[in-house]
Amino acid sequence: MTSPDAIETYYRGQGLAERIFTALAKEGHDINRLTPEILAPHDEFHVGGMAATHRVAARLGLNPSHHVLDIGCGAGGPARAIAAAHQCHVTGIDLTADFITAGTRLNAACGLAALVSLHHGSALDMPFEGGAFDRAVMLHVGMNITDKPALMAEAARVLVPGGLFCVYDVMRVGDGEITFPLPWAPDVSVSAVETPDTYVTAAENAGLAVLEQHDGTAAAAAFIAHVIATKPAPTPGQPPDRFRNLAAHIESGILAPTELVFRKAG
Ligand SMILES: C[S@@+](CC[C@H](N)C(=O)[O-])C[C@H]1O[C@@H](n2cnc3c(N)ncnc32)[C@H](O)[C@@H]1O
Repeated sequence: MTSPDAIETYYRGQGLAERIFTALAKEGHDINRLTPEILAPHDEFHVGGMAATHRVAARLGLNPSHHVLDIGCGAGGPARAIAAAHQCHVTGIDLTADFITAGTRLNAACGLAALVSLHHGSALDMPFEGGAFDRAVMLHVGMNITDKPALMAEAARVLVPGGLFCVYDVMRVGDGEITFPLPWAPDVSVSAVETPDTYVTAAENAGLAVLEQHDGTAAAAAFIAHVIATKPAPTPGQPPDRFRNLAAHIESGILAPTELVFRKAG
């Protein structure tokens, strides 16, 4: 069972907003007039970046009346991208307090504080009323959460009847040993990678029917190639780079970025 403290320790990002502002100012951006597009290389913590966020959002038929929940929102990059593109309210929740602190500053820097609010807390015990959200997304978070039944039950609880939920996680799609580090885990103790079937079974038991399943490997290929091209060459004798290691697992067919769309009964 992965531990919340170990996960927060791994992700902690003290001073993240300042580091992003410094990097963007060096590139010549006015840090008081940012946009989700300018921030995207710094605040979208999943394979495929902002393009993947928009692909996920497009599966949910969003309109400005919808209130969207982003489960495991990180520093709020996906939440801001969705709010700006669809002019809807987005609420995010994440276990890593530093990300919430940084994300709240980034909301203001984008002029999105009225549409996006970010909260510190666990996906397994969310401080929201039942039926509070019309739509929910979860991008690259389930790989840290062992208890998929509890995760799906909590997502189902906060959705309205008929509400849609899109999960975009890296999932096990083939046999073979999973080795570390990977982007979400330095070792197996904070990793909870599962098969699409495990997600679907947990979701169905929580009252979420699966509508769609998509293998995102092809869509991610250009992103993965770009990220690897920007990294220094591997050093012999050193541990593998976590992103290169993920790319190798995807290439060998053990892991795949996978999208699942669910609808709550009702
Ligand atoms: C790879 S990052 C993805 C962040 C964001 N979804 C994005 O795509 O930019 C994984 C995030 O999941 C969060 N997380 C992991 N376990 C969680 C839990 N039980 N409840 C809430 N957030 C969690 C981590 O704190 C981290 O911010």
